[in-house]
Amino acid sequence: MDNFIFQNPTRLLFGRGMIARLAGEIPAGKKIMLTFGGGSVKKNGVYDQVVAALKGRDCVEFWGIEPNPKIETLRRAIELGKQEKVDFLLAVGGGSVIDGTKLIGGGLLYDGDAWDLVKQGSFTETVPVASVLTLPATGSEMNYNGVISCLETREKYAFVSKHPVFSILDPEATFTLPLHQISCGLADTFVHVMEQYMTCPVGQSRLMDRWAEGILMSLVEIAPEIIALSRAEAEAGGTLSEEDRQKKYDLMADFMLNATMGLNGFIAMGVRQDWATHMIGHEITALTGLTHGETLAIVLPALLRELLPQKRGKLLQYGERVWGVSAGTLDNRALTAIQHTEDFFRSIGLRTRLTECMGEAEAEALADEIARRFTERGVAFGEDANVDGPLARAILERAK
Ligand code: NZQ
Ligand code: ZN
Repeated sequence: MDNFIFQNPTRLLFGRGMIARLAGEIPAGKKIMLTFGGGSVKKNGVYDQVVAALKGRDCVEFWGIEPNPKIETLRRAIELGKQEKVDFLLAVGGGSVIDGTKLIGGGLLYDGDAWDLVKQGSFTETVPVASVLTLPATGSEMNYNGVISCLETREKYAFVSKHPVFSILDPEATFTLPLHQISCGLADTFVHVMEQYMTCPVGQSRLMDRWAEGILMSLVEIAPEIIALSRAEAEAGGTLSEEDRQKKYDLMADFMLNATMGLNGFIAMGVRQDWATHMIGHEITALTGLTHGETLAIVLPALLRELLPQKRGKLLQYGERVWGVSAGTLDNRALTAIQHTEDFFRSIGLRTRLTECMGEAEAEALADEIARRFTERGVAFGEDANVDGPLARAILERAK
Protein backbone atom coordinates (compact mmCIF):
# COMPACT_ATOMS: atom_id res chain seq x y z
CA MET A 1 0.00 0.00 0.00
CA ASP A 2 1.22 3.53 -0.73
CA ASN A 3 1.39 6.28 1.88
CA PHE A 4 -1.63 8.55 1.92
CA ILE A 5 -3.34 11.40 3.73
CA PHE A 6 -7.10 11.16 3.89
CA GLN A 7 -9.54 13.85 4.93
CA ASN A 8 -13.04 14.41 3.63
CA PRO A 9 -14.70 17.35 5.34
CA THR A 10 -17.98 17.42 3.37
CA ARG A 11 -21.02 17.13 5.59
CA LEU A 12 -23.69 14.96 3.95
CA LEU A 13 -27.40 15.51 4.53
CA PHE A 14 -29.12 12.55 2.97
CA GLY A 15 -32.78 11.78 2.39
CA ARG A 16 -36.30 12.98 1.81
CA GLY A 17 -37.06 16.53 2.95
CA MET A 18 -33.45 17.40 3.78
CA ILE A 19 -33.46 20.50 1.53
CA ALA A 20 -35.59 22.21 4.20
CA ARG A 21 -32.51 22.24 6.45
CA LEU A 22 -30.51 24.45 4.09
CA ALA A 23 -30.67 27.69 6.05
CA GLY A 24 -29.26 26.11 9.17
CA GLU A 25 -26.20 24.93 7.23
CA ILE A 26 -25.20 28.34 5.83
CA PRO A 27 -23.69 30.80 8.32
CA ALA A 28 -25.80 33.91 8.99
CA GLY A 29 -24.93 37.12 7.19
CA LYS A 30 -23.60 35.49 4.04
CA LYS A 31 -24.29 36.89 0.59
CA ILE A 32 -25.27 33.68 -1.18
CA MET A 33 -25.08 33.01 -4.90
CA LEU A 34 -27.37 30.18 -6.04
CA THR A 35 -26.17 28.55 -9.24
CA PHE A 36 -28.28 26.45 -11.58
CA GLY A 37 -28.25 24.63 -14.89
CA GLY A 38 -30.82 25.00 -17.64
CA GLY A 39 -34.03 24.74 -15.62
CA SER A 40 -34.65 21.09 -14.63
CA VAL A 41 -34.84 22.19 -10.99
CA LYS A 42 -37.87 24.34 -11.78
CA LYS A 43 -39.74 21.30 -13.12
CA ASN A 44 -39.07 18.98 -10.21
CA GLY A 45 -39.76 21.30 -7.32
CA VAL A 46 -36.16 21.47 -6.13
CA TYR A 47 -35.92 25.20 -6.91
CA ASP A 48 -39.09 25.92 -4.90
CA GLN A 49 -37.77 23.92 -1.95
CA VAL A 50 -34.45 25.79 -2.02
CA VAL A 51 -36.11 29.20 -2.24
CA ALA A 52 -38.50 28.33 0.59
CA ALA A 53 -35.65 27.07 2.77
CA LEU A 54 -33.63 30.27 2.19
CA LYS A 55 -36.52 32.71 2.69
CA GLY A 56 -35.24 35.96 4.16
CA ARG A 57 -31.60 35.28 3.26
CA ASP A 58 -29.58 37.56 0.97
CA CYS A 59 -29.38 35.63 -2.31
CA VAL A 60 -28.54 36.26 -5.94
CA GLU A 61 -29.20 33.69 -8.69
CA PHE A 62 -27.08 32.64 -11.66
CA TRP A 63 -28.70 30.40 -14.29
CA GLY A 64 -27.38 28.60 -17.33
CA ILE A 65 -24.40 26.47 -16.27
CA GLU A 66 -24.58 23.95 -19.08
CA PRO A 67 -23.54 20.26 -19.21
CA ASN A 68 -19.73 20.12 -19.50
CA PRO A 69 -19.64 23.64 -18.03
CA LYS A 70 -18.00 26.24 -20.22
CA ILE A 71 -15.48 28.81 -19.07
CA GLU A 72 -17.29 31.34 -21.26
CA THR A 73 -20.42 30.99 -19.05
CA LEU A 74 -18.53 30.84 -15.77
CA ARG A 75 -16.70 34.11 -16.48
CA ARG A 76 -20.11 35.84 -16.47
CA ALA A 77 -21.00 34.20 -13.15
CA ILE A 78 -17.72 35.34 -11.62
CA GLU A 79 -18.31 38.89 -12.82
CA LEU A 80 -21.78 38.92 -11.26
CA GLY A 81 -20.48 37.38 -8.03
CA LYS A 82 -17.76 40.02 -7.72
CA GLN A 83 -20.28 42.83 -8.32
CA GLU A 84 -22.61 41.39 -5.70
CA LYS A 85 -19.82 40.66 -3.20
CA VAL A 86 -20.87 37.04 -2.91
CA ASP A 87 -19.20 35.10 -0.09
CA PHE A 88 -21.07 31.77 -0.18
CA LEU A 89 -21.97 29.60 -3.19
CA LEU A 90 -24.77 27.05 -3.37
CA ALA A 91 -24.80 24.85 -6.47
CA VAL A 92 -28.18 23.29 -7.22
CA GLY A 93 -27.99 20.64 -9.93
CA GLY A 94 -25.78 17.90 -11.35
CA GLY A 95 -22.02 17.57 -11.57
CA SER A 96 -21.72 20.31 -14.15
CA VAL A 97 -23.36 22.92 -11.93
CA ILE A 98 -21.27 21.83 -8.95
CA ASP A 99 -18.00 21.76 -10.92
CA GLY A 100 -18.74 25.15 -12.48
CA THR A 101 -19.51 26.55 -9.04
CA LYS A 102 -16.21 25.25 -7.66
CA LEU A 103 -14.48 27.29 -10.34
CA ILE A 104 -16.64 30.33 -9.61
CA GLY A 105 -15.50 29.95 -5.97
CA GLY A 106 -11.87 30.23 -7.06
CA GLY A 107 -12.57 32.92 -9.65
CA LEU A 108 -14.19 35.22 -7.08
CA LEU A 109 -10.89 35.45 -5.20
CA TYR A 110 -8.66 35.62 -8.27
CA ASP A 111 -7.80 38.76 -10.20
CA GLY A 112 -6.93 37.15 -13.53
CA ASP A 113 -8.96 35.01 -15.95
CA ALA A 114 -10.42 31.89 -14.26
CA TRP A 115 -9.24 29.72 -17.17
CA ASP A 116 -5.73 30.17 -15.66
CA LEU A 117 -6.99 28.31 -12.57
CA VAL A 118 -8.22 25.44 -14.72
CA LYS A 119 -4.98 25.26 -16.70
CA GLN A 120 -2.81 25.36 -13.58
CA GLY A 121 -4.72 22.29 -12.35
CA SER A 122 -5.25 23.28 -8.72
CA PHE A 123 -6.18 26.17 -6.46
CA THR A 124 -7.07 26.42 -2.79
CA GLU A 125 -8.19 30.02 -2.34
CA THR A 126 -11.93 29.79 -2.79
CA VAL A 127 -15.23 31.09 -1.51
CA PRO A 128 -17.03 28.22 0.30
CA VAL A 129 -19.17 26.01 -1.96
CA ALA A 130 -22.07 23.75 -0.96
CA SER A 131 -24.48 21.75 -3.10
CA VAL A 132 -27.94 20.34 -3.53
CA LEU A 133 -27.41 17.36 -5.84
CA THR A 134 -29.96 16.33 -8.48
CA LEU A 135 -27.97 13.78 -10.52
CA PRO A 136 -25.95 10.87 -9.08
CA ALA A 137 -22.80 10.34 -11.15
CA THR A 138 -19.74 12.50 -10.65
CA GLY A 139 -19.16 12.44 -6.89
CA SER A 140 -18.51 16.19 -7.21
CA GLU A 141 -20.82 16.70 -4.23
CA MET A 142 -18.19 15.12 -1.97
CA ASN A 143 -14.86 15.55 -3.73
CA TYR A 144 -12.45 18.35 -4.56
CA ASN A 145 -12.45 17.91 -8.34
CA GLY A 146 -13.96 19.91 -11.14
CA VAL A 147 -13.93 19.57 -14.91
CA ILE A 148 -14.32 22.64 -17.14
CA SER A 149 -14.51 23.01 -20.91
CA CYS A 150 -13.59 25.82 -23.25
CA LEU A 151 -15.96 26.29 -26.17
CA GLU A 152 -13.49 28.33 -28.16
CA THR A 153 -10.58 25.87 -28.11
CA ARG A 154 -12.63 22.66 -27.70
CA GLU A 155 -10.59 21.69 -24.63
CA LYS A 156 -11.71 20.04 -21.38
CA TYR A 157 -9.54 19.83 -18.25
CA ALA A 158 -9.88 18.67 -14.67
CA PHE A 159 -8.69 20.66 -11.67
CA VAL A 160 -8.42 20.11 -7.93
CA SER A 161 -9.76 22.62 -5.43
CA LYS A 162 -11.71 22.21 -2.18
CA HIS A 163 -14.48 19.87 -1.07
CA PRO A 164 -17.99 21.30 -0.76
CA VAL A 165 -18.64 22.26 2.88
CA PHE A 166 -21.91 20.35 2.77
CA SER A 167 -24.09 18.57 0.24
CA ILE A 168 -27.76 17.69 0.37
CA LEU A 169 -28.75 14.46 -1.34
CA ASP A 170 -32.48 13.87 -1.61
CA PRO A 171 -33.21 10.87 -3.86
CA GLU A 172 -36.58 12.44 -4.76
CA ALA A 173 -34.66 15.22 -6.55
CA THR A 174 -33.54 12.57 -9.07
CA PHE A 175 -37.05 11.39 -9.97
CA THR A 176 -37.26 13.60 -13.07
CA LEU A 177 -34.00 12.41 -14.61
CA PRO A 178 -34.32 11.25 -18.22
CA LEU A 179 -33.37 7.62 -18.76
CA HIS A 180 -30.25 8.55 -20.76
CA GLN A 181 -28.88 10.65 -17.89
CA ILE A 182 -29.54 7.80 -15.46
CA SER A 183 -27.66 5.38 -17.74
CA CYS A 184 -24.76 7.80 -18.12
CA GLY A 185 -24.67 8.31 -14.35
CA LEU A 186 -24.57 4.56 -13.73
CA ALA A 187 -21.73 4.15 -16.24
CA ASP A 188 -19.81 7.11 -14.81
CA THR A 189 -20.03 5.68 -11.29
CA PHE A 190 -19.01 2.21 -12.50
CA VAL A 191 -15.98 3.59 -14.32
CA HIS A 192 -14.88 5.82 -11.41
CA VAL A 193 -14.69 2.71 -9.26
CA MET A 194 -12.92 0.72 -11.98
CA GLU A 195 -10.29 3.41 -12.39
CA GLN A 196 -9.38 3.23 -8.71
CA TYR A 197 -9.42 -0.57 -8.71
CA MET A 198 -8.46 -2.08 -12.06
CA THR A 199 -4.67 -1.83 -11.78
CA CYS A 200 -2.64 -4.65 -10.28
CA PRO A 201 -3.63 -7.18 -7.60
CA VAL A 202 -0.47 -7.17 -5.52
CA GLY A 203 0.80 -4.60 -3.04
CA GLN A 204 -2.60 -2.90 -2.91
CA SER A 205 -5.28 -2.97 -0.22
CA ARG A 206 -7.66 -5.84 0.38
CA LEU A 207 -10.05 -3.42 2.05
CA MET A 208 -10.08 -0.96 -0.87
CA ASP A 209 -10.60 -3.89 -3.25
CA ARG A 210 -13.59 -5.19 -1.32
CA TRP A 211 -15.14 -1.74 -1.01
CA ALA A 212 -14.68 -1.13 -4.73
CA GLU A 213 -16.13 -4.54 -5.57
CA GLY A 214 -19.03 -3.78 -3.20
CA ILE A 215 -19.92 -0.68 -5.19
CA LEU A 216 -19.54 -2.48 -8.53
CA MET A 217 -21.75 -5.35 -7.35
CA SER A 218 -24.38 -2.95 -5.97
CA LEU A 219 -24.50 -1.16 -9.32
CA VAL A 220 -24.82 -4.42 -11.24
CA GLU A 221 -27.69 -5.36 -8.91
CA ILE A 222 -29.66 -2.09 -8.96
CA ALA A 223 -29.08 -0.96 -12.56
CA PRO A 224 -31.53 -3.38 -14.25
CA GLU A 225 -34.22 -2.54 -11.70
CA ILE A 226 -33.73 1.20 -12.14
CA ILE A 227 -33.82 0.91 -15.93
CA ALA A 228 -36.90 -1.35 -15.92
CA LEU A 229 -38.77 0.93 -13.55
CA SER A 230 -37.87 4.05 -15.56
CA ARG A 231 -39.05 2.40 -18.78
CA ALA A 232 -42.31 1.28 -17.16
CA GLU A 233 -42.83 4.80 -15.83
CA ALA A 234 -42.28 6.33 -19.27
CA GLU A 235 -44.70 3.84 -20.84
CA ALA A 236 -47.33 4.75 -18.23
CA GLY A 237 -47.03 8.40 -19.27
CA GLY A 238 -44.75 9.36 -16.38
CA THR A 239 -46.88 8.06 -13.54
CA LEU A 240 -46.00 5.60 -10.78
CA SER A 241 -48.10 3.77 -8.21
CA GLU A 242 -47.39 4.60 -4.55
CA GLU A 243 -45.63 1.26 -4.19
CA ASP A 244 -43.44 1.88 -7.23
CA ARG A 245 -42.64 5.40 -6.01
CA GLN A 246 -41.23 3.95 -2.80
CA LYS A 247 -39.36 1.33 -4.81
CA LYS A 248 -37.87 4.06 -7.00
CA TYR A 249 -36.92 6.05 -3.90
CA ASP A 250 -35.05 3.10 -2.44
CA LEU A 251 -33.28 2.34 -5.72
CA MET A 252 -32.26 5.95 -6.37
CA ALA A 253 -31.13 6.30 -2.74
CA ASP A 254 -28.84 3.32 -3.25
CA PHE A 255 -27.61 4.70 -6.58
CA MET A 256 -26.93 8.14 -5.07
CA LEU A 257 -24.87 6.74 -2.23
CA ASN A 258 -22.95 4.46 -4.60
CA ALA A 259 -22.10 7.42 -6.83
CA THR A 260 -20.96 9.57 -3.93
CA MET A 261 -18.87 6.79 -2.39
CA GLY A 262 -17.42 5.96 -5.79
CA LEU A 263 -15.48 9.20 -6.04
CA ASN A 264 -15.04 10.82 -2.65
CA GLY A 265 -11.67 9.33 -1.78
CA PHE A 266 -12.91 6.44 0.37
CA ILE A 267 -11.90 3.71 -2.08
CA ALA A 268 -8.67 5.42 -3.12
CA MET A 269 -6.66 5.14 0.08
CA GLY A 270 -3.14 3.94 -0.61
CA VAL A 271 -3.95 2.31 -3.97
CA ARG A 272 -2.69 2.91 -7.47
CA GLN A 273 -5.12 4.44 -9.95
CA ASP A 274 -5.63 4.57 -13.69
CA TRP A 275 -7.53 7.56 -15.04
CA ALA A 276 -6.71 6.96 -18.71
CA THR A 277 -10.32 6.13 -19.61
CA HIS A 278 -11.47 9.49 -18.23
CA MET A 279 -8.67 11.40 -19.93
CA ILE A 280 -9.55 9.90 -23.31
CA GLY A 281 -13.27 10.34 -22.58
CA HIS A 282 -12.82 14.05 -21.81
CA GLU A 283 -11.17 14.54 -25.20
CA ILE A 284 -14.06 12.76 -26.95
CA THR A 285 -16.57 15.03 -25.20
CA ALA A 286 -14.51 18.16 -25.92
CA LEU A 287 -14.29 17.29 -29.61
CA THR A 288 -17.72 15.78 -30.26
CA GLY A 289 -20.03 16.79 -27.39
CA LEU A 290 -20.83 13.16 -26.53
CA THR A 291 -22.15 12.79 -22.94
CA HIS A 292 -19.45 12.03 -20.37
CA GLY A 293 -20.82 8.65 -19.19
CA GLU A 294 -21.26 7.38 -22.71
CA THR A 295 -17.66 8.18 -23.68
CA LEU A 296 -16.52 6.04 -20.75
CA ALA A 297 -18.71 3.10 -21.83
CA ILE A 298 -16.96 3.30 -25.19
CA VAL A 299 -13.39 3.68 -23.94
CA LEU A 300 -13.20 1.36 -20.90
CA PRO A 301 -13.83 -2.01 -22.63
CA ALA A 302 -11.40 -1.09 -25.40
CA LEU A 303 -8.77 0.03 -22.91
CA LEU A 304 -9.10 -3.19 -20.92
CA ARG A 305 -8.69 -5.29 -24.07
CA GLU A 306 -5.65 -3.29 -25.17
CA LEU A 307 -4.02 -3.48 -21.72
CA LEU A 308 -5.05 -7.05 -20.92
CA PRO A 309 -1.50 -8.35 -20.33
CA GLN A 310 -0.79 -5.51 -17.86
CA LYS A 311 -4.13 -5.87 -16.04
CA ARG A 312 -4.62 -9.65 -16.32
CA GLY A 313 -4.23 -10.36 -12.60
CA LYS A 314 -6.80 -7.80 -11.51
CA LEU A 315 -9.15 -8.70 -14.36
CA LEU A 316 -9.20 -12.28 -13.08
CA GLN A 317 -10.05 -11.12 -9.55
CA TYR A 318 -12.71 -8.75 -10.91
CA GLY A 319 -14.16 -11.43 -13.19
CA GLU A 320 -14.43 -13.95 -10.39
CA ARG A 321 -15.72 -11.67 -7.63
CA VAL A 322 -18.03 -9.35 -9.59
CA TRP A 323 -19.18 -11.57 -12.47
CA GLY A 324 -18.60 -15.10 -11.16
CA VAL A 325 -16.18 -15.99 -13.97
CA SER A 326 -13.95 -18.84 -12.81
CA ALA A 327 -13.63 -21.28 -15.73
CA GLY A 328 -11.40 -21.24 -18.80
CA THR A 329 -7.83 -20.24 -19.58
CA LEU A 330 -6.54 -17.12 -17.86
CA ASP A 331 -6.86 -14.99 -21.00
CA ASN A 332 -10.34 -16.31 -21.71
CA ARG A 333 -11.45 -15.50 -18.19
CA ALA A 334 -10.04 -11.97 -18.47
CA LEU A 335 -11.72 -11.46 -21.85
CA THR A 336 -15.02 -12.77 -20.50
CA ALA A 337 -14.84 -10.29 -17.61
CA ILE A 338 -14.32 -7.46 -20.13
CA GLN A 339 -17.24 -8.72 -22.23
CA HIS A 340 -19.47 -8.70 -19.14
CA THR A 341 -18.45 -5.08 -18.59
CA GLU A 342 -19.34 -4.06 -22.14
CA ASP A 343 -22.60 -6.05 -21.96
CA PHE A 344 -23.47 -4.26 -18.73
CA PHE A 345 -23.12 -0.86 -20.42
CA ARG A 346 -25.24 -2.04 -23.34
CA SER A 347 -27.87 -3.46 -20.99
CA ILE A 348 -28.42 0.00 -19.51
CA GLY A 349 -28.95 1.46 -22.97
CA LEU A 350 -25.54 2.90 -23.81
CA ARG A 351 -23.55 2.62 -27.00
CA THR A 352 -20.10 1.11 -26.59
CA ARG A 353 -18.57 1.74 -30.00
CA LEU A 354 -17.49 4.98 -31.63
CA THR A 355 -18.99 4.03 -34.98
CA GLU A 356 -22.43 3.80 -33.35
CA CYS A 357 -22.12 7.52 -32.60
CA MET A 358 -20.35 8.77 -35.76
CA GLY A 359 -19.14 7.69 -39.18
CA GLU A 360 -16.03 5.55 -39.71
CA ALA A 361 -14.02 8.48 -41.11
CA GLU A 362 -15.00 10.73 -38.22
CA ALA A 363 -13.99 8.06 -35.69
CA GLU A 364 -10.65 7.73 -37.44
CA ALA A 365 -10.05 11.49 -37.41
CA LEU A 366 -11.08 11.69 -33.74
CA ALA A 367 -8.57 8.99 -32.78
CA ASP A 368 -5.84 10.81 -34.70
CA GLU A 369 -6.61 14.13 -33.06
CA ILE A 370 -6.66 12.70 -29.52
CA ALA A 371 -3.35 10.92 -30.12
CA ARG A 372 -1.91 14.14 -31.53
CA ARG A 373 -3.05 16.15 -28.51
CA PHE A 374 -1.58 13.66 -26.00
CA THR A 375 1.72 13.60 -27.87
CA GLU A 376 1.85 17.38 -28.18
CA ARG A 377 1.13 17.79 -24.45
CA GLY A 378 3.70 15.12 -23.58
CA VAL A 379 1.24 13.30 -21.32
CA ALA A 380 0.89 9.60 -20.47
CA PHE A 381 -1.81 8.21 -18.18
CA GLY A 382 -2.60 5.00 -16.30
CA GLU A 383 -1.00 3.23 -13.34
CA ASP A 384 2.15 2.68 -15.38
CA ALA A 385 2.00 6.11 -17.08
CA ASN A 386 2.12 4.35 -20.45
CA VAL A 387 -1.12 5.51 -22.07
CA ASP A 388 0.46 8.11 -24.32
CA GLY A 389 -0.61 9.32 -27.77
CA PRO A 390 0.14 6.09 -29.68
CA LEU A 391 -1.42 3.85 -27.02
CA ALA A 392 -4.52 6.08 -26.83
CA ARG A 393 -4.70 5.72 -30.63
CA ALA A 394 -4.60 1.93 -30.32
CA ILE A 395 -7.34 1.97 -27.66
CA LEU A 396 -9.56 4.15 -29.86
CA GLU A 397 -8.93 1.82 -32.79
CA ARG A 398 -10.33 -1.03 -30.68
CA ALA A 399 -13.25 1.21 -29.64
CA LYS A 400 -14.36 1.74 -33.23
O1 NZQ B 1 -29.11 21.85 -16.71
P1 NZQ B 1 -30.33 21.21 -16.17
O2 NZQ B 1 -31.58 21.81 -16.70
O3 NZQ B 1 -30.33 21.14 -14.67
O4 NZQ B 1 -30.37 19.71 -16.74
C1 NZQ B 1 -29.35 18.76 -16.49
C2 NZQ B 1 -28.44 18.52 -17.70
O5 NZQ B 1 -29.09 18.82 -18.89
C3 NZQ B 1 -30.01 17.42 -16.35
N1 NZQ B 1 -30.45 17.14 -14.98
C4 NZQ B 1 -29.73 17.17 -13.84
N2 NZQ B 1 -30.51 16.78 -12.81
C5 NZQ B 1 -31.74 16.54 -13.30
C6 NZQ B 1 -31.73 16.76 -14.69
N3 NZQ B 1 -32.80 16.60 -15.48
C7 NZQ B 1 -33.95 16.20 -14.88
N4 NZQ B 1 -34.03 15.93 -13.55
C8 NZQ B 1 -32.95 16.08 -12.74
N5 NZQ B 1 -33.04 15.76 -11.44
O6 NZQ B 1 -29.03 16.47 -16.70
C9 NZQ B 1 -28.17 17.03 -17.69
C10 NZQ B 1 -26.76 16.66 -17.39
O7 NZQ B 1 -26.32 17.27 -16.20
P2 NZQ B 1 -24.76 17.32 -15.81
O8 NZQ B 1 -24.64 18.07 -14.54
O9 NZQ B 1 -23.97 17.76 -16.97
O10 NZQ B 1 -24.44 15.77 -15.57
P3 NZQ B 1 -23.36 15.09 -14.65
O11 NZQ B 1 -23.72 15.17 -13.23
O12 NZQ B 1 -23.14 13.76 -15.24
O13 NZQ B 1 -22.04 15.98 -14.83
C11 NZQ B 1 -21.20 15.84 -15.95
C12 NZQ B 1 -19.99 16.73 -15.80
O14 NZQ B 1 -19.22 16.37 -14.64
C13 NZQ B 1 -17.87 16.11 -15.02
C14 NZQ B 1 -18.03 15.63 -16.45
O15 NZQ B 1 -16.82 15.65 -17.15
C15 NZQ B 1 -19.05 16.58 -16.99
O16 NZQ B 1 -18.45 17.81 -17.32
N6 NZQ B 1 -17.25 15.20 -14.08
C16 NZQ B 1 -16.93 15.69 -12.86
C17 NZQ B 1 -16.25 14.95 -11.93
C18 NZQ B 1 -15.91 15.49 -10.61
N7 NZQ B 1 -16.19 16.75 -10.34
O17 NZQ B 1 -15.33 14.79 -9.79
C19 NZQ B 1 -15.81 13.60 -12.18
C20 NZQ B 1 -16.47 12.98 -13.36
O18 NZQ B 1 -15.62 11.96 -13.84
C21 NZQ B 1 -16.79 13.89 -14.48
O19 NZQ B 1 -15.67 14.07 -15.30
ZN1 ZN C 1 -16.59 10.52 -14.64
